[in-house]
Amino acid sequence: MTSSARFPEGFVWGTATAAYQVEGAASAGGRGPSIWDTFSHTPGRTLNGDNGDITCAHYDHLEEDLDLVAGLGRCAYRFSVAWPRVQPDGKGPANQEGLDFYRRLVDGLRQRGVLPVATLYHWDLPQALEDVGGWTARDTAERFGEYTQAVVGALGDAVAMWVTLNEPWCVAWLGYGTGEHAPGYADVSKGLLATHHTLLAHARAAEVLRQATEAPVGIALNIAPMVPASDHELDVAAAKRADGFQNRLFLGPLFKGSYPQDMVEHYARYKPGWDAVLPGDLDQVSRPLDFLGLNYYSSNVIADTSRLDAARKAGYEVAPPVTTGANGDLGIARVGRVYAPHTGARWEVDPEGLTRLLVRVRDEYTSVPLYITENGCAENDYAGPDGAVHDPRRIWYLERHLVAARAAIEQGADLRGYFVWSLMDNFEWAHGFSMRFGLVYVDYPTAKRTPKDSYRWYRDVIAANGLP
Ligand code: FCB
Repeated sequence: MTSSARFPEGFVWGTATAAYQVEGAASAGGRGPSIWDTFSHTPGRTLNGDNGDITCAHYDHLEEDLDLVAGLGRCAYRFSVAWPRVQPDGKGPANQEGLDFYRRLVDGLRQRGVLPVATLYHWDLPQALEDVGGWTARDTAERFGEYTQAVVGALGDAVAMWVTLNEPWCVAWLGYGTGEHAPGYADVSKGLLATHHTLLAHARAAEVLRQATEAPVGIALNIAPMVPASDHELDVAAAKRADGFQNRLFLGPLFKGSYPQDMVEHYARYKPGWDAVLPGDLDQVSRPLDFLGLNYYSSNVIADTSRLDAARKAGYEVAPPVTTGANGDLGIARVGRVYAPHTGARWEVDPEGLTRLLVRVRDEYTSVPLYITENGCAENDYAGPDGAVHDPRRIWYLERHLVAARAAIEQGADLRGYFVWSLMDNFEWAHGFSMRFGLVYVDYPTAKRTPKDSYRWYRDVIAANGLP
């Protein structure tokens, strides 16, 4: 490996998790129900009816897990705060027991020399707020500001970086536009409202954080390159729509203070839709950030839904097209390059997509520092007879993406850090426990943790500040 695999001095190395995916203890410590409790307990919503009631039992294994984080060396740890632990009904006075748990978490990290990176919202909206409209209601953004106040009041002196929301596109469009995630609506108008209100919530939280702390404030987006399946004009246009939908719909308001014109036109017939955007909103949404977090797993190959036969003939794998909800409305379909490398969960591996993405964001949107706030892969990991978990494919995946990240730095992207998703195997949303993303293997029935080979490999990466 050449010296180009070393990273700039001070580069932040980390791992990430999210509250609902790891904590368990769903009704302990005064926690209220979230939309993910409701959704996962609704038959047919998650694979095998899996849910986060117990998952990794991180809530009860906190010290052990913090030791695992610290065992990686000088690093950062990105965790999320569960809103329903802090405000069981989504409003009103904070639940002290909930705040105490996160206080123990951040103190435990600091004592171990680990930088705490807090995400305020990783998808677990208090059910009480969903009952009055959830992210389709403007008021939820105001509630989010109050919740942020409670969290920063309790943890502000210890948290090193703040991420307001994780992947608002997933919140809005998987949650309200396609129904794959909680709360499970397949309604374009709701998706649009949720888009604007999550961005507004980000603005409110950023404002509150700015007044309370000097720590850097950012947001984590799942921006993905959209590659046309062919150079046919319909596929090229479909890829552009996909880019507008998943990428520019969020990058535009955050960094240019406006929604992209093609998407404004596309969604014009949905009401109340854009009427929800009030004067002054976008000025707030586009206030300068200290950093931008990017979660990257794969690029997307996109075909126009009228051209799926052509895509098949060209050798693509074509899943049945989604004809309802957000994707149906856009006339876009994701197709797979059969011969491209894939992860164990059949996600296409495209490290160069990460380089292109980082450079594009720098060129077209912002010069703020960038962080890869998530990157990783699900593999079919298992503990062998000796108890060890060998995961060479994960090491290969991560290594390729680090090389790609390093290439982006060489091309001028101001990349300051990288977080592996995930510290440990956990509840993968609608896929339940079928996908293992961890550097640490979790045996769910016993909660036993076993660091995989990739855990030791990543420890060496951190020690060497790059590929060893
Ligand atoms: C991201 C989510 C994270 C995890 C990974 C695999 O979209 O932010 O919680 O599910 O995907």
